[in-house]
Amino acid sequence: MQTLNPPPGAHRDLAEPPAKVRLGDDPAGRGFAVNSVPANRHLRSGSHSMPPLIEAHGLTKKFRQAVKEPGLAGALKHFFVRQYRDKLAVDHIDLAIEPGESVAYLGPNGAGKSTTIKMLTGILVPSSGSLIVNGLVPYEKRQRNARNIGVVFGQRTQLWWDIPVVESFNLARDMYEIPADRYKKNLGEFTEMLGLAEFMNVPAAKISLGQRMRADLCMALLHDPRILYLDEPTIGLDIAVKDSIRKFVRARVEEYGTTVMLTTHDLGDIEDICRRIVIIDNGKIIHDGDLATLKDTYARDRVIHFQLARPAESMAAICQKLPACEVASDGLRLSVRFDRFEHAAGEIAGAVMPLVEVIDFRIDEPEVEDLIRRVYLGQLSLAPGDEPELRSAKPAVVAEA
Ligand SMILES: Nc1ncnc2c1ncn2[C@@H]1O[C@H](COP(=O)(O)OP(=O)(O)OP(=O)(O)O)[C@@H](O)[C@H]1O
Ligand SMILES: [Mg+2]
Repeated sequence: MQTLNPPPGAHRDLAEPPAKVRLGDDPAGRGFAVNSVPANRHLRSGSHSMPPLIEAHGLTKKFRQAVKEPGLAGALKHFFVRQYRDKLAVDHIDLAIEPGESVAYLGPNGAGKSTTIKMLTGILVPSSGSLIVNGLVPYEKRQRNARNIGVVFGQRTQLWWDIPVVESFNLARDMYEIPADRYKKNLGEFTEMLGLAEFMNVPAAKISLGQRMRADLCMALLHDPRILYLDEPTIGLDIAVKDSIRKFVRARVEEYGTTVMLTTHDLGDIEDICRRIVIIDNGKIIHDGDLATLKDTYARDRVIHFQLARPAESMAAICQKLPACEVASDGLRLSVRFDRFEHAAGEIAGAVMPLVEVIDFRIDEPEVEDLIRRVYLGQLSLAPGDEPELRSAKPAVVAEA
């Protein structure tokens, strides 16, 4: 029988020796406020009487990576002269998450997201810094911590591979000592919401990826944990399955107040589930704030697309009326990009409609995906004090017609 806490595939990480951890332990001697974002943006507990549910100070994970030259010669050389380099996967992060919050933990590949989640779950031991989750140090009290959390790793299942899915659920019931009536209620509810019935009696090895992910989600929540960690829960899934998973998680947040921390590269997930976005890059938190504020502050542009009855006669007249907007025309389509803090959509429509015959129009909202992509590419800085990009006041005209 496996122990209560870790997902089956996670034991390998425990091979590394426990590090000595104490508050403020920092080889570089930099203390806590070393992130590029001031500590108070991550540690929001000041205004609350209760401590945050998840609280990290200076949380750091350093891996020792073997440096090997390629080929047999390289392997032999490494055998005799071992070389290593240190990789700071998570670099002195400060983070506080309140009960009931739903946080998207984003960042490019290799940024340190999974490493953070593994420390929060107790699978990995931090190299330095302090971490408290629901009053416990996760890696010290792995079994007690396991009762408070549910975890889904999109890349790795927690189901027992060779036995029917329902048997894995039954094992979870026994491990977590879930009372029979609660287990029956939860299993019935989750089976219906996630459509598990058709593969409940099939071994995990023989179900599809989407079925596996739904079963994993069910398994993670059978014991009603306060916290749900989702590490890329929709990776490789079709739109319908993604949708059912998002709806299910959102219902947990809204109805049960479950605290969710989600990492994903599919930004559709975050708009459905998360209110707050934390972005990590190279192990450091570079942004922590509300999704709505992020959009309001940085996604200033909106675009109105008009469908025309006939091509516009004079683009110059339209541009003249909208000097600070970017106007583009392509045959029967006309679009106007505008700063939504400077113009209302109605103003733009009012300026365009007397000049062309409009059949239909739609407004494109700011895309958070676009914003995040620009942050990853280094085109947009979210560091505090940096002004958001403002559009040029000069008219810009793109006329392809
Ligand atoms: N067990 C390990 N040993 C050595 N280095 C590791 C280990 N696990 C992760 N790393 C390194 O730490 C860094 C952060 O990895 P991590 O898996 O946390 O990234 P991530 O943000 O989850 O990326 P992705 O989006 O690709 O899942 C990477 O450079 C990775 O190579
Ligand atoms: Mg990862």
